[in-house]
Amino acid sequence: MVPYADFNLLPFPDRDQALEKILDLTMLSDIFPTGYHGAYSAGVTTGSTVYVAGAGPVGLAAALSAQLLGASVVMVGDTNPDRLKQAESFGCVGIDLTTDGTLEEKIAAVTGEPEVDAAVDAVGFEARGHGKDAGEAPATVLNDCMGIARAGAGIGIPGLYVTGDPGAVDDAAKEGTLGVRLGLGWTKSHRFVTGQCPVKQYNRQLMNLILHDRAPIAKAVNATTISLDQAADGYQQFDKGAAQKFVIDPHGMVPSA
Ligand SMILES: NC(=O)c1ccc[n+]([C@@H]2O[C@H](COP(=O)([O-])OP(=O)(O)OC[C@H]3O[C@@H](n4cnc5c(N)ncnc54)[C@H](O)[C@@H]3O)[C@@H](O)[C@H]2O)c1
Repeated sequence: MVPYADFNLLPFPDRDQALEKILDLTMLSDIFPTGYHGAYSAGVTTGSTVYVAGAGPVGLAAALSAQLLGASVVMVGDTNPDRLKQAESFGCVGIDLTTDGTLEEKIAAVTGEPEVDAAVDAVGFEARGHGKDAGEAPATVLNDCMGIARAGAGIGIPGLYVTGDPGAVDDAAKEGTLGVRLGLGWTKSHRFVTGQCPVKQYNRQLMNLILHDRAPIAKAVNATTISLDQAADGYQQFDKGAAQKFVIDPHGMVPSA
């Protein structure tokens, strides 16, 4: 039973063609449109320099989307070495946040200037600070993005922020109040776009990109098919930061499974 199926489902033009690409098409249900929304709403266009915070599946989808939108260089920041390698596997520049130096310096080492045309927060309230053993610091990525986005730039924020986080680091964060330096964003006239992704705004066009071999999204996020029996282990590995996006295939329908 699929609630509101007549509204929510995306019809594929041809069953056999769709089954050949089903692993890529699976990404249309959430992360591909979400990552695309981050890049698109940050205003990425031909020649943009782009910083994506977070090399999880959403960050990787945002990075691939930025490339599809014509970015000249896409830098992806994270503290997880395997996920940084995954970003580099499709032409992004990994920015290792565990090493010494500021984010501005790391970006300048790539582009020659300490700022970018567009920034995407694909991390959200679970952000950690910079450095090897940094703990949770939920405003980090928003402040990073304002720090490195040029004046007038867009900042796409698909990363999730909440109004209640009982396990948060301090009382303010427990109710979603963060130490965001909004004055910097105001001074630089930034444009912020956040909230739940309007998936249906993008998924038909993204489906066409996949069907015409223009968007290797499954490869970009290292989509890995697992059986239902392996699901619990898949969740655990994902929680530990595996550089994989697990797809549960209970009926063995994915050709490579
Ligand atoms: N807006 C929407 O509709 C929508 C849809 C899906 C997911 N999301 C949200 O997008 C976010 C990302 O999802 P995901 O599945 O990729 O999550 P994830 O937890 O797998 O990845 C987040 C990555 O961010 C990294 N990270 C932590 N602190 C960082 C920092 N300061 N700078 C850079 N990277 C840092 C982590 O190491 C991790 O690799 C989550 O908040 C998720 O809830 C939003």
